[in-house]
Amino acid sequence: MKETDTKNIGLRGVKVADTRISDVNGEKGILIYRGSNITDLARSSTYEEVSFLLLNDHLPGKKELEKYRSELVSERGVPEAVLENLRVTPKLAHPMDVLQSTIPFLASFDPQLRMETREANYKKAIRLISKFPTVVAAWDRIRNGFDPVSPNPELSHAGNFLYMLRGTPPDPETARDFDICLILHAEHSLNASTFAGREVASTHAHIYAAVAAAMGALSGELHGGANSEVMKMLLEIGELSRVKTWVSEKLGRGGKIMGMGHAVYHTEDPRATVLRTICEQMAARTGERRWCELSKAIEGATKEEFRKLKGKEIYANVDFYSASVYHMMGIPRDLFTPVFAISRMSGLTAHIIEEKFAEAQPKPELYRPDADYVGTYCGPEACEYVPLEERKS
Ligand SMILES: CC(C)(COP(=O)(O)OP(=O)(O)OC[C@H]1O[C@@H](n2cnc3c(N)ncnc32)[C@H](O)[C@@H]1OP(=O)(O)O)[C@@H](O)C(=O)NCCC(=O)NCCS
Repeated sequence: MKETDTKNIGLRGVKVADTRISDVNGEKGILIYRGSNITDLARSSTYEEVSFLLLNDHLPGKKELEKYRSELVSERGVPEAVLENLRVTPKLAHPMDVLQSTIPFLASFDPQLRMETREANYKKAIRLISKFPTVVAAWDRIRNGFDPVSPNPELSHAGNFLYMLRGTPPDPETARDFDICLILHAEHSLNASTFAGREVASTHAHIYAAVAAAMGALSGELHGGANSEVMKMLLEIGELSRVKTWVSEKLGRGGKIMGMGHAVYHTEDPRATVLRTICEQMAARTGERRWCELSKAIEGATKEEFRKLKGKEIYANVDFYSASVYHMMGIPRDLFTPVFAISRMSGLTAHIIEEKFAEAQPKPELYRPDADYVGTYCGPEACEYVPLEERKS
């Protein structure tokens, strides 16, 4: 096989698979889920429709949607042992660590765990999509000394999560805004966590193992952890009057402004455009204008300072406005990434299935990149072995 020297560039621009699931046009700022523009989906669809689309390659008809909804609803419950496990978990554990560790635990309860047909994997994907919000909400309640709230079959995927988190159903506007947030985060091609999931799936590991690996990748602040870092920044800056100095000092020190910049988009992330509007609408509806105004000021100051320092543009990404939006919805800061994970479960499981069943390429290959060895070298036959008693340190 021909060697390609692509090291130390974080695989940027290196195509490692075909996919039918989504297309990110980083130059034009367009995101397409299986042929549908994300902006249209955010305007006119629900998360359930989008989730179906990602797993099935077409938007559902009315009957298909009804069936899919009831499948999702019927899988929302989690075994009591999972809740027991959460009860004995140290309360200060980070929610992403708790969630990542719950996934293999859930696997042991899946009656089809070792069945590797597409149909069984589709069912397992539905279980993961449905149970994940229940686990996130239950963990938040348990760590705060409350009992978990059972899922409400009358509510949508989005509305039910907010209900299980707070114990009261959200108003329809908030439920719909949250639904749109879930749509926007549902899929983003071969980002770090999806690649991690596909890489594990390529070894023929089961879907839960692949999802757990992806969750580890998602927890990092350069990926899914960025939205919570954005909120930390908003809280730290606190006042509009402090924005310019804070931003220029941060960038001047070579620091990063979280929620700004993107590895693929070289224009505005289309999800940020929708989220900015949601932020403004929520601010107008609730009268809580502070977070949105602060975000807009930070965005403006970062763009201006970036132009001065680097002579180029930088744009808000999906995490920038989702921080204020989630905060206004009353979602705790350390649940922002788990909420991202709730949404991403549809795209992620769709990718794992695509990888397992070679749905976009003729034959799935086990990922096996290469590295140049730059360590200790004593010659082609290696160094002379030194017995333990003769070693100096
Ligand atoms: C997402 C991210 C890792 C992409 O990084 P990338 O692929 O290296 O981006 P670019 O190649 O366009 O970066 C170009 C330059 O801008 C800088 N830059 C990118 N994002 C920046 C940010 N948010 N704040 C300050 N500088 C930034 C890079 O350090 C780089 O500087 P250099 O040319 O002096 O080396 C980066 O933008 C980042 O760390 N953003 C903040 C974290 C975040 O929001 N992550 C969520 C992504 S959805």
